[in-house]
Amino acid sequence: MINVGIIGVGRIGRVHGESIARFVRNARVKAVADPCLNEEAIQWAKAMGIAETYTDYRKILADADIEAVLICASTDQHTPLSIEALKAGKHVFCEKPIDHDVEKIKEVLTAVGESGKKYQVGFNRRFDHNFRALRQAVQSGKIGRQQIIRITSRDPEPPSLDYIKVSGGIFLDMTIHDFDMVRFLSGAEVTEVYAAGSVTVDPAIGEAGDIDTAVITMRLNNGATAVIDNCRAACYGYDQRAEVFGTGGAVEISNDTASNAVISNKDGVTAEKPMFFFLERYMMAYAAEIDAFIEAIVNDTPVEVDAHDGLAPVLIGLAAKKSAAEHRPVAIAEISAAYGL
Ligand SMILES: NC(=O)c1ccc[n+]([C@@H]2O[C@H](COP(=O)([O-])OP(=O)(O)OC[C@H]3O[C@@H](n4cnc5c(N)ncnc54)[C@H](O)[C@@H]3O)[C@@H](O)[C@H]2O)c1
Repeated sequence: MINVGIIGVGRIGRVHGESIARFVRNARVKAVADPCLNEEAIQWAKAMGIAETYTDYRKILADADIEAVLICASTDQHTPLSIEALKAGKHVFCEKPIDHDVEKIKEVLTAVGESGKKYQVGFNRRFDHNFRALRQAVQSGKIGRQQIIRITSRDPEPPSLDYIKVSGGIFLDMTIHDFDMVRFLSGAEVTEVYAAGSVTVDPAIGEAGDIDTAVITMRLNNGATAVIDNCRAACYGYDQRAEVFGTGGAVEISNDTASNAVISNKDGVTAEKPMFFFLERYMMAYAAEIDAFIEAIVNDTPVEVDAHDGLAPVLIGLAAKKSAAEHRPVAIAEISAAYGL
């Protein structure tokens, strides 16, 4: 049994705390830490069977019985916490993105290399049953040589403006999951990006310096072309679909719904809307990613989403940001070179 500490128990920290308590085979949460710990959070921890609650994460790092930490604090804390935790000899699971700043991600890569510890990044969609089946079909050769990868990723509602202002922008906050998915499904690398975006949901998002709607086209080094469409608001729910088209056929996945009941009557044929948002749609994927992280520690095998996988979509996101701002295709090599990569 691996003892785990969770640093940051806001939305996603609690998702992981709950999934470990309910679904993860070989781990238990020994302690949580959050500077904003209040009575409600302490009661939540108690309900999850977590005995120790701290306001200072250093108590977790100093606990020799804790082998692994989950970094679920706000994004600006990921790099310093990752480096400190690795230096304290802990295996680390870090929520996405590692950082918005490539220089800081490079520091994390160095710390991971020096520590010899496991470091997994929270790209939970790789562990979703639908996306895994899609990848399996592509990798097994059932659709032949890849030609087009198409991802639709639309949220049911935008986050708060306060969140938007510190999010790093739509490409680094939202599309980053889809950039990772392009790499995961194709097993290839993105070489060039062209992004076009606009504000169609809320003018306040534009005033905050961001966009809320985007289409991104990418060239891949396996010859395929990928296209992602994003919107911060879809009135019918969380829209998460994908298709890979190839010389031997096509494979697609659709949305998960609460049930597959289809009602046919004189007015037409109706079915359930997609599940509301990421907590509903991906709860089992969150559990599966932590289970995989723990099994990598138990069996001393490589993690499925490593620090390099954390860096790659940030480079793609920065290329997309530049492309949308300058209205031109941007090569990933242009971004990499700027950071000496
Ligand atoms: N993989 C996913 O699908 C997914 C979903 C949501 C959020 N996230 C990521 O998870 C991170 C947290 O997002 P959230 O929505 O849970 O935010 P949140 O604001 O709900 O929670 C963050 C918590 O971290 C705490 N915190 C800040 N600094 C800390 C520190 N030094 N030590 C301990 N705790 C600290 C805050 O007090 C807060 O309670 C973000 O990086 C976000 O990008 C990932």
